[in-house]
Amino acid sequence: MKRLFFALWPDAATRRHCQQIAAALNEYGRPVQAMNFHVTLAFLGAVDARQQIALTQAASGIQFTAMKLNFNLLSYWKKPGIVCLSTDQPDPATSALAEQLVHIAKSNGLQMDERPFKAHVTLLRKAHALPPLTFEPIAWQAESFCLLESCSKPGGVAYRMLEQWQITNHG
Ligand code: 2AM
Repeated sequence: MKRLFFALWPDAATRRHCQQIAAALNEYGRPVQAMNFHVTLAFLGAVDARQQIALTQAASGIQFTAMKLNFNLLSYWKKPGIVCLSTDQPDPATSALAEQLVHIAKSNGLQMDERPFKAHVTLLRKAHALPPLTFEPIAWQAESFCLLESCSKPGGVAYRMLEQWQITNHG
């Protein structure tokens, strides 16, 4: 079994911008490594080889449009204990993609989180407060999404990209 999730992966400039914001936050929690920044679209959890093949096939059939997330807020979510970039301007294209991914996951027998999708980029884990910080909003644009594997390493978690899907129809 592999621990998998669908996500948006940043381009180099977006990653750098997130990193600049994250650099000011260290004392508020445990920083997420910059190479791990992402926007989770659908967390799948443990997936077997047969399910992975079926999910990959189903994801290949998804139609989606260009996404643009304006991360203009810093949030502290007490229950998961994270500080993340978030937005008060939900992007319908991203939400629609996340919804389709949850649908194909459920169709393949996976139990999914029923909470509504909230786009965010986790910057700190084991956080204990909201850091006071003003920053330039991050315009995170995406024309692809990916399937990632979460791998536990001695130094922490690492994400491995298994598949990536690009939009075929710009619009
Ligand atoms: P995040 O999106 O808030 O950072 C891989 O584990 C990613 O999937 C993590 O980055 C994590 O949080 C997200 N995720 C969502 N639900 C999860 C869950 N129930 N368990 C672990 N990770 C989850």
